[in-house]
Amino acid sequence: MALTLTKLFLFSFLVSSTVLTARSELLTSKREKLTHFRVYVQDKIAGSNATVVTVAQASTTNQSATSFGLVRVFDDALTVGPEMSSKNVGVVQGMAAFASQSEMALSMSLNFVFTAGKYNGSSLTVVGRNMLSLKVREMPIVGGTGLFRLARGYVQTSTYSLDLKNGLVVLVYDFSVYHSLLTVSLG
Ligand SMILES: *[C@@H]1O[C@H](CO)[C@@H](O)[C@H](O)[C@H]1NC(C)=O
Ligand SMILES: *[C@@H]1O[C@H](CO)[C@@H](O)[C@H](O)[C@H]1NC(C)=O
Ligand SMILES: *[C@@H]1O[C@H](CO)[C@@H](O)[C@H](O)[C@H]1NC(C)=O
Repeated sequence: MALTLTKLFLFSFLVSSTVLTARSELLTSKREKLTHFRVYVQDKIAGSNATVVTVAQASTTNQSATSFGLVRVFDDALTVGPEMSSKNVGVVQGMAAFASQSEMALSMSLNFVFTAGKYNGSSLTVVGRNMLSLKVREMPIVGGTGLFRLARGYVQTSTYSLDLKNGLVVLVYDFSVYHSLLTVSLG
């Protein structure tokens, strides 16, 4: 008899924990959305209209094969296509520090600020390590504002084109971002 009661108890525990798991998954899927989208970054590294400036370096940076200690700040245009003349949807503002003594690797913080298109008024923040020798680099999305409140996810970036003559680097950023669907009701 005691054995049967224990079995019953165990059984009901298993059933209720299964139900709880299922419910929390359901709530998560109703409150969050996974969005994928792509933007192009126009990184103007030279010329009178450069959008990237070097702000600091160490006394040893020039002797470093990996530019260790170099810090740059950028304010690059975001476009929907690879051409600079394609529709502008905002800017990416941030900082990149050459942070490795053994590889070309950046420590980056980037704020993607949307001022047109369906994400107008919202922003996404990316912080991470950008290892320049990789064809596809991946960094975490750590948060956002507006439509992207409570955001988390990752970006994958690669160099689309490199025009050293005109000092223009175009980068592709592919976003995979979970964000809240409750932003409207949360006000
Ligand atoms: C800088 O921008 C201005 C205005 O957009 C443009 O007329 C000029 O050609 C640009 N200069 C360079 C060097 O890109
Ligand atoms: C490092 O090199 C740059 C570019 O060649 C030069 O402008 C700068 O003065 C150098 N800095 C040091 C600390 O040697
Ligand atoms: C973006 O949103 C702002 C604020 O709502 C608005 O003033 C502006 O016209 C919008 N821009 C575009 C291009 O939709």
